[in-house]
Amino acid sequence: MPRADGELRTFKLRRGRITPGQRHALDTLWRRYGVDLGTGRFDPATVYGRRAPLVVEIGFGMGEATVAMAAADPDRDVLAVDVHTPGAGALLRDVAAAGLVNVRVVLGDGRDVLRLLTPGTLDELRVFFPDPWPKTRHHKRRLVEPGFVRLAASRLRVGGRLHCATDHRPYAERMLSLLAAEPSLANDGGGGVVDGDGYAERPAWRPVTRFERRALDGGHEVFDVIATRAPGHGASAGDRG
Ligand SMILES: C[S@@+](CC[C@H](N)C(=O)[O-])C[C@H]1O[C@@H](n2cnc3c(N)ncnc32)[C@H](O)[C@@H]1O
Repeated sequence: MPRADGELRTFKLRRGRITPGQRHALDTLWRRYGVDLGTGRFDPATVYGRRAPLVVEIGFGMGEATVAMAAADPDRDVLAVDVHTPGAGALLRDVAAAGLVNVRVVLGDGRDVLRLLTPGTLDELRVFFPDPWPKTRHHKRRLVEPGFVRLAASRLRVGGRLHCATDHRPYAERMLSLLAAEPSLANDGGGGVVDGDGYAERPAWRPVTRFERRALDGGHEVFDVIATRAPGHGASAGDRG
């Protein structure tokens, strides 16, 4: 079913029940680490109480990789976004257990979050193992599509990065062609090594995610695609809002 604004859902509705521990974490920790977005611009200085580069992760799943990356990167702030309530409970619990001060959690659609960011300010956008929607008739549900890439590019600062990873080769190929079509992005592996096909060498700092572990155990290959926002590009359609 489409959303009220006509945008299609990019996620599968999951029945997974919330555990008592996850419910407790939501009840007790949301006030500390959760962000209820309104309609105004997201103001990181107010939310984190400091000015630091901002990283947004769309689709954190159960959040284990999110916590590991944030703990290893204390000088940047992380806004972790997903629609899955049990995962948010798990992430809140783990953030508190690790004593992290640089993570906040949003329950909602990552595209709505991007629209609330000030254009040209985001240090990094992570999209790790988005639902692949492999059937052709479902491709329109994929998160990484032309409008999303335009919106993402518009939110990145010059030198900021869009980092996608997937184990679904056709989606990886589509990501590469979409990035190539966006003039304000350079597919440079984020300064790392890029292979002959355009895929980035997996950065050592990116932990194996829960979804990725299953893919690797199933014998799948994993593809990282990392592009950098290039200088000298004016407002594109995605800059609106
Ligand atoms: C296949 S899972 C991968 C989770 C995690 N990144 C991992 O690798 O284990 C994709 C996740 O993206 C979330 N997701 C899909 N579309 C989203 C959207 N528009 N905004 C926020 N989260 C979304 C889903 O709820 C799901 O948790």
